[in-house]
Amino acid sequence: MAANAGRRLLQHYVDNFRHLPWRSPPGEAPPDPYRVWLSEVMLQQTTVAAVAPRFERFVSRWPTVGALAQAPEAEVLGEWAGLGYYARARNLIACAREVATRGRFPTDEPGLRTLPGIGEYTAAAIAAIAFGRDTSPVDANVERVIARVHGLPTTERAPIRARFAEMAPPGRCGDFVQAMMDLGATICRPRAPLCAQCPLSEGCAAFASGSPESFPQRKPKQPRPLRFGVAHWIERDAAVWLVRRPAKGLLGGMAALPGDDWSGPDAPANAMTQVTHVFTHFELRLSVVAKAEPEGEGWWHPIADLGGAGLPTLYRKAAGALMAKRASLAAAA
Ligand code: ADE
Repeated sequence: MAANAGRRLLQHYVDNFRHLPWRSPPGEAPPDPYRVWLSEVMLQQTTVAAVAPRFERFVSRWPTVGALAQAPEAEVLGEWAGLGYYARARNLIACAREVATRGRFPTDEPGLRTLPGIGEYTAAAIAAIAFGRDTSPVDANVERVIARVHGLPTTERAPIRARFAEMAPPGRCGDFVQAMMDLGATICRPRAPLCAQCPLSEGCAAFASGSPESFPQRKPKQPRPLRFGVAHWIERDAAVWLVRRPAKGLLGGMAALPGDDWSGPDAPANAMTQVTHVFTHFELRLSVVAKAEPEGEGWWHPIADLGGAGLPTLYRKAAGALMAKRASLAAAA
């Protein structure tokens, strides 16, 4: 039964697969491992819709792992700006350099696991998609599909991987895992799944229960603490003073507005504007405060070209809010 369901899902993928820039059509030769690796890293914590255009830009700038290995770190971080989780970009550079030194990507899971930034899921996904290995890559989509089909209340990894391996048609794991991902993204969605369109609904325990959404059980959301921070807006001759954040830690290595360490007791009274940004473990209320003199090591960046400064979303929001505030004050004057 599991193998039958696997074949049905694979056929559904052949008929309906999403054309994505890092994919080969089902049944065809696998894509370049560089593109598979890059897409898997970009897709960690980021949606397909957000990744697709950024992926295209990235590979047109650095078409091979060798080209990426030679790129200056600040340029790669700048290209990653807005995608979030910047440790991924720092690991990406380290990994490209390691692969360039070795001459090629390792072709199996244990070999891939030895590379910077490649964990259990990513190694299994690259081994399956780029090298045709039979592995069990389990991400959140795969977890949900399997938990529902088998009526598993939790997403404990080992049983999910075992069920995946039972379902995956041998030799087709790369297409099969992407079939699961597409199903999870488009039909077996977290909320309001489209069971009437699902090739797995026959034999799906969650569908039979009448309440497919309730599988797997959701973990209660942890409340996010609120933190207060200050960013300094230091302007001269139509340029703003930018700094590079320390290599380690949040937004590590990224271009930024200078400021404090975000441990203030509350928002300062003299802020020109304020933005809120949600990080994984806390919410930040960042106040933008004008300052006259540059601080720390940094550079002047033309305000008219802030979009090209490689600023992460937090600072883009802060600069955007300031510009909007100014425009509304100017209009009122
Ligand atoms: N999420 C992670 N990897 C993916 C892939 N190859 N296709 C679509 N979504 C994904």
